[in-house]
Amino acid sequence: MEETTENTHGCGDISGPGEDRCSDNDFGPSKLGTRQYWEDAYQKELETFKDIGDVGEIWFGEGSMSRILRWMERANIPENTAILDIGTGNGALLVELAKSGYSNLMGIDYSPASVELAKNVLQAEDLTDVTVKEVDFLNSQGELKGFDVCIDKGTFDAVSLNPDNTNQVKQLYVEALKDALKDQGHFAITSCNWTKEQLLDRFSDGFEFVQELPTPSFQFGGKKGNSVTALIFKRVH
Ligand SMILES: C[S@@+](CC[C@H](N)C(=O)[O-])C[C@H]1O[C@@H](n2cnc3c(N)ncnc32)[C@H](O)[C@@H]1O
Repeated sequence: MEETTENTHGCGDISGPGEDRCSDNDFGPSKLGTRQYWEDAYQKELETFKDIGDVGEIWFGEGSMSRILRWMERANIPENTAILDIGTGNGALLVELAKSGYSNLMGIDYSPASVELAKNVLQAEDLTDVTVKEVDFLNSQGELKGFDVCIDKGTFDAVSLNPDNTNQVKQLYVEALKDALKDQGHFAITSCNWTKEQLLDRFSDGFEFVQELPTPSFQFGGKKGNSVTALIFKRVH
């Protein structure tokens, strides 16, 4: 297989062996869909950050962050726009957004260790105006509302691997997103588990497709494909 362009770090990890692109019904549950998995992972990353200042894993690589920033710039998203990073992990994307001038930022994650790590990472960069909260996106009790932009980098992928009733969980995600976004607000999703077609299908009701962002491509057996999909949607009522 011939990989082209940028690094897609993290994708193999989240799909797990033999769990590449599948139809909706093909996904099996995985420990990657559990809060305990992420809590353990970020607990380790937090220790490493405190020891040596390494922020840890950047899912889908640095390129995945600059791709989103490039889109925001081209779409003229105002700097004071309300932005939610869903499942922020180590908060690296929040750091990049803040450094690019965005001033109304919130990151949420259901892992307490992730929240502590993201706060530490932001603090180390002197970015103290960014809000990071421990919230389960699927059960936010109406706390997340009025966002102009919601960004998801690998979180819907993780949610899709939840060992509980995954179809119901995926639908819960869509409903939570509808509640969080303002009318005409944008949703930027980066996924390695779902194809463009599957994401268009999942986010069809209440959303309008805006554009696909170019991602690294590979060639295999004469066929071209993308290992990561990045799409922009708009919330419509
Ligand atoms: C693949 S990691 C991606 C982290 C980060 N977005 C990044 O790009 O580095 C998935 C993240 O989603 C978080 N997550 C999964 N399910 C969640 C939920 N229901 N509510 C909030 N966060 C969740 C995990 O704790 C983890 O931080």
